[in-house]
Amino acid sequence: MKNRLFFCLMALLLSAGMNAEVLRLETPNTQLVLDATEGQELRVLYFGDKSATLADIEAAGETGSAALPVFGDIDMIHLPALQVQHADGDLSLNLRVAKVESLTSNSDSGLTSNICVTLTDKLQPVTVRVFYKACHDVDIIETWTEIEHQEKKPIVLKRFDSGYLHLGEGEQVWLTHLHGDWAAEAVVTNEPLTRGVKIIRNTDGARNAHLDAPEVMLSLDGAPEENSGRVLGAALCWSGNFEIRLNVPNNQGVHLYAGIDPQSSEYVLAPKQVFKTPSLAFTYSTEGMGGVSRAFHRWARTCGMLHNGNAVRDVLLNSWEGIYFDITQQRIIDMMDDIAAFGGELFVMDDGWFGGKYPRNNDSSSLGDWVVDTRKLPGGLKALTEAARERHIRFGIWIEPEAVNTVSELYEQHPDWALQVKGRDLKLGRGGTQLVLDMTNPKVQNFVFNLVDNLLTDYPEIAYIKWDANASIQNYGHLTAQRSNSPKDGLTSNLYIDYHLGLLKTLERIRAKYPNVVIQNCASGGGRANYGLMPYFDEFWVSDNNDALQRVFIQWGTSYFFPSNAMAQHIGGSPYQMTNRVVPIKFRCDVAMSGRLGIELQPKHMTDEERLQCTTALTDYKVLRNIIQLGNLYRLVSPYSSLQATTVAEQQVASLMYVTDDRSEAVLFAYSLSNFMKQAPRRIRLAGLDPNRTYTIEEKNIRVQYNHDKGAWDKGEPCSLHGKQFTGAYLMNVGLLIPLSTEYTQDYPSRIFHLK
Ligand code: GLA
Repeated sequence: MKNRLFFCLMALLLSAGMNAEVLRLETPNTQLVLDATEGQELRVLYFGDKSATLADIEAAGETGSAALPVFGDIDMIHLPALQVQHADGDLSLNLRVAKVESLTSNSDSGLTSNICVTLTDKLQPVTVRVFYKACHDVDIIETWTEIEHQEKKPIVLKRFDSGYLHLGEGEQVWLTHLHGDWAAEAVVTNEPLTRGVKIIRNTDGARNAHLDAPEVMLSLDGAPEENSGRVLGAALCWSGNFEIRLNVPNNQGVHLYAGIDPQSSEYVLAPKQVFKTPSLAFTYSTEGMGGVSRAFHRWARTCGMLHNGNAVRDVLLNSWEGIYFDITQQRIIDMMDDIAAFGGELFVMDDGWFGGKYPRNNDSSSLGDWVVDTRKLPGGLKALTEAARERHIRFGIWIEPEAVNTVSELYEQHPDWALQVKGRDLKLGRGGTQLVLDMTNPKVQNFVFNLVDNLLTDYPEIAYIKWDANASIQNYGHLTAQRSNSPKDGLTSNLYIDYHLGLLKTLERIRAKYPNVVIQNCASGGGRANYGLMPYFDEFWVSDNNDALQRVFIQWGTSYFFPSNAMAQHIGGSPYQMTNRVVPIKFRCDVAMSGRLGIELQPKHMTDEERLQCTTALTDYKVLRNIIQLGNLYRLVSPYSSLQATTVAEQQVASLMYVTDDRSEAVLFAYSLSNFMKQAPRRIRLAGLDPNRTYTIEEKNIRVQYNHDKGAWDKGEPCSLHGKQFTGAYLMNVGLLIPLSTEYTQDYPSRIFHLK
């Protein structure tokens, strides 16, 4: 497979005598065909299914569309993906192919194929390099551009999309995107695209996944299906403001543009400075939305996340919802005892452990003062890392490096380090005092690097960091910014972008020195679940909302683009503090177990039933975790379908499963979301299995039962499917009636099955 990709690209280049005209970039199931004739506009002739041959494409008379519609070249139907204002005020460009390079490398991590097409303008000394990259044997292609010029003065990038794709002439295209809020992330929204321009954007400044997220799917065969139909998926790999535009002109198909949002952000580019756009990662599948998700998950594990994306993650207890800011040494050590007793492997001390002059007792002070509060933790971090070692668990810690409170020693010493507009009142965030540090300032970058470096040097036992970001950029200005990247008048319109470039630069330094520390990407929950930051992180906090029922929906949407080993899912308390919903421990465990499992409550408050169920869950999870965290996801029954139910007679369920690459094993999750008498059970058809193989069903995390003879909680009885054997064909074509009885039992019944 690897060689095929390499040879295909090279063969085309050679047949064209290195004066390439048609280039083809291939992944296992897709291909991108470009016309890169020298002196002409760069065109995409085809992107999609691999079955189309070059002869087919030629016979169909495909002339394709501009790879990068540029203002100055485009007609009235198109929107520009690139527009610059030259030093002399001219707004136009006519970019033509000047050079084609193919860079194929076979590194330790696998094969990467890279095409770079250099475009130049006849009139103005502007160079644009368009890149396409296929990484490993994954059905994802990334595209981005580099823009550079030799004009006498700075030019202004007015529009600088990462990528553009044209699709779906004559087809009924549906858009699927993720929309949400704090504690209600990743709400799935499906809609048919109609004439006009649809814009999906986020202007938070620092995070971009809470409201509208930078990923979309486009279904070409009408309303989206999970496991069938042609679907294109795209993710903008950027953590700042973005804009995805879908232009549907009359009878001209759908035009997708994705890039950094230029509003308040037109980039001032100095001569010889190179501006690199973030990449747009895209794929095409004939296996519905599930096919797109699986491609993204595979790509994330090998290319889109930190290098160890194929590693399984520890089971942990996080202190936040158990004790919030009320940290004491005893409470922390007690919690370590609890997670060790459950069979967990890691304890994470969340917010509240730091502060010198100002103790961090609530969210209104101390961010920036990263010293241990010895009033709460007299033995310091040393006592805690030692306690963890004694209990054979790892230790992790929370930080929020990019933030400062006005009530802090850091702010007293360096008020100019916070983003702010000179002379204007500060807009204050969380706790009424929170500000965002100026990540464009090298001194701030060093401060953030040193915070992590000092922690990990002083306490090499720290195995995990939760990196939080709880504020938007509301003060659009900086006092001591590094100006070298900007023209000398120091225009602030580069701020939104330079903030993220400064953050990425700092993360790069951290990761170069500490590649193996697990770092969680958190931003008031899932505010930074994006592929701009994930290359530096191992996982992300899916949501601050741990209500298991709402989590079924949040995790469902999040899984559209992100793999399960990156999705931190914790068992929360009941009644749950945000929704006040009472949910049995079995359901809470089963929902959290479909991703990277953790616990987030005060174990001291758990009942005996809860403790036993949690221990059972953790024990079974460790057996199943390779399949859950690294398997291929098949979403079977959407929780959203339950919202459309018109009668309580039909049981409302959600179900998903993970299958190993060789299809020899799978884990199936089924959740009942409703509980009414006399509901008809739902038959669930499985997917992704080997039709010819016989699978034995084993129930896992069986609900514990009260044993009246023993006078204590005890292991429960498995359901009637336990031990039964079925062919893959039966399971996929006929399906199972999963016992999710809702009568006389418990609310929210759920089941987990191991198939092998
Ligand atoms: C954010 C995070 C939470 C927790 C708190 C601590 O809200 O999302 O998980 O860490 O901050 O203040």
